[in-house]
Amino acid sequence: MVGPPAAAAVFLVLTLEPGGEAAARETLGEVEALTRSIGFGHPEGRLTCVSGVGARAWEPLYGSPRPAALRPFRELAGPRHRAPATPGDLLFHIRAQRPDLCFALAAEIVRRLGDAARVQDEVQAFAYFDSRNLLGFVDGTENPVGDTAADTALVGDEDPAFHGGSYAVVQKYLHDVDAWEKLAVEEQERVIGRTKLTNLELDDAPGSHADVNTLTAPDGSELRVLRGAMPFGRPGHGEFGTYFIAYARDPGVPDEMLRRMFLGTTETGPDPLLDFSRAVTGTAFFVPSAGFLRANSA
Ligand code: HEM
Repeated sequence: MVGPPAAAAVFLVLTLEPGGEAAARETLGEVEALTRSIGFGHPEGRLTCVSGVGARAWEPLYGSPRPAALRPFRELAGPRHRAPATPGDLLFHIRAQRPDLCFALAAEIVRRLGDAARVQDEVQAFAYFDSRNLLGFVDGTENPVGDTAADTALVGDEDPAFHGGSYAVVQKYLHDVDAWEKLAVEEQERVIGRTKLTNLELDDAPGSHADVNTLTAPDGSELRVLRGAMPFGRPGHGEFGTYFIAYARDPGVPDEMLRRMFLGTTETGPDPLLDFSRAVTGTAFFVPSAGFLRANSA
């Protein structure tokens, strides 16, 4: 999860079927080995998979203890925009430099789960030009890197049983590209808070998407998440989307970003990006370490 942007991804969100616990636990425990097997002959493909478990499924799968901050995604209903909560017990976030490797791993995971889980959402996403989203802006620039990324995303000593895990929040967004393209480039830049071609931060863009999502802790440090959003779409079906995923050591950070985006802040209204982007799913997961999944697969 903590690595450079990938060229392709598959996002799989499933719900657990009654009686499917043993098969799901077994599959979750096997994902690391499956990823290694499929990726081994293609090291340049850098195949990875992150597996997550939702709040409702934690108890039936792994009992106690449970990750201290694991909660279901909470719907947000703002003055103009809604972030719905949708079903999701299992998450597989598969990334690689090649779509075929992502596809092969996704297909194998779904095959092994069989009747134990039902696919609620399956999206094949791709890198678009120089890491742009379908609104034409470079996405992911201010992501933390290296040690800061690990420190942003990975649980530490605050929850020793789940050391090295992470919290993930996932939302599928659909864009109104026609309305977006009616804006002048300067107006689009004020919505995002960066320049479009050169990807430079605007000095003064209060209330922009970047501004709304810049959070400061009481000690003055910046509160961050590790984002892995990627575009997807279906020409001819009116589907132009961003599959949003953020990892955090403390899920309170992305929760607060979402509150600011959908409900607005004391200084600004809701995020103007939402006038052109509709959230159609919302799920939250804990991503246990690979060691935890292996040790608890029986
Ligand atoms: C429609 C979905 C979204 C799109 C198209 C989008 C796009 C962008 C773009 C283009 C940037 C500026 C470049 C960058 O640093 O990546 C950005 C920044 C950012 N976005 Fe989003 N975003 C979306 C949803 C979200 C959501 C749901 C959150 C939080 C839960 C979020 C959090 C952030 C953060 C923290 C930044 C960096 C702000 C900064 O430090 O300058 N974004 N996003």
